[in-house]
Amino acid sequence: MKAKILVTRDLPGNGIELLRQAGVAVEVYPEDQPILRSVLLESVKGADAILSMLSDRIDAEVMDAAGGQLKIVSNYAVGYDNIDLIEAKKRGIRVTNTPGVLTDATAELAWALLLSAARNVVAADNFVRSGEWGGWGPKQFLGYQLTGRTLGVIGAGRIGTSFALKSSGFGMKVLYYARRENEVLRDRLGAKLCDLETVLKSSDFISLHLPLTDETRYLLNRKRLGLLKPTAVLVNTARGPIIEEEVLAEYLAEGRIGAAGLDVYEQEPKVNPNLLSLPNVVLLPHIGSGTFSTRSTMGQMAAKAILDCIAGLEPENAVV
Ligand code: DGY
Repeated sequence: MKAKILVTRDLPGNGIELLRQAGVAVEVYPEDQPILRSVLLESVKGADAILSMLSDRIDAEVMDAAGGQLKIVSNYAVGYDNIDLIEAKKRGIRVTNTPGVLTDATAELAWALLLSAARNVVAADNFVRSGEWGGWGPKQFLGYQLTGRTLGVIGAGRIGTSFALKSSGFGMKVLYYARRENEVLRDRLGAKLCDLETVLKSSDFISLHLPLTDETRYLLNRKRLGLLKPTAVLVNTARGPIIEEEVLAEYLAEGRIGAAGLDVYEQEPKVNPNLLSLPNVVLLPHIGSGTFSTRSTMGQMAAKAILDCIAGLEPENAVV
């Protein structure tokens, strides 16, 4: 019998085609929206592999529904906080992700958010489109200059490193918070490893590049958000629950934080309603890895992990 692969959403590029060409039975959820839980639990029955999205919660219930033949959950993302790794490990189910290929795409989006938030790009664009613009004005849409300022990078893994290196064009002083010294950042930028509180207090621009874990959930809570400069610009392309979103909205509204650029939210796709009306925040729909080439390569990687695993080979990028 052919192996059954459940792909929970259609993908750009040829990843799904690679699965089909390998002669496995591929079932792709046909709607261009996150698969409904009830549909997931039904469709996963008898699957040997799941090609999952970061929006799918893959837990014991899903693994039970799939059945004992489930061999791999191949997550179409670098983050895998949506998967219960302990359950997967207990059952001998492999879990893989798609690191590396989305490093630059995500780092670039963090810069897009930082610049947009710092220079009011979205609010100013809306103003022009509204027809209200009466001509150039010396006080219009004043923002925060980057050149020579201090950049704080929270998390110095692949994406954090790529993000920090891209600051050299702005001649920024770079501080970072990480578990250990990052030699690339030290040697190429003269960046300084600091404790979290120092990075938060001293930086003009702060960008988060950490996975979501029990340790990082609400890492930026009320107390730590309170350390930011009132002119600071905060960017999050990592995971929403790292920031206490309600407090961030409150501080942005009160001018206790200058501006923010967010690609991720505490309860996606819900966005805290208090954020929606603020002019000093730029809100994107979790598109960090969203370039044509990256999303296509992610699909190929996720497919290859499944095909390798089914063939009895060790899949690359196994986290379990
Ligand atoms: C991921 O792949 O985990 C990122 O959130 C992409 O934006």
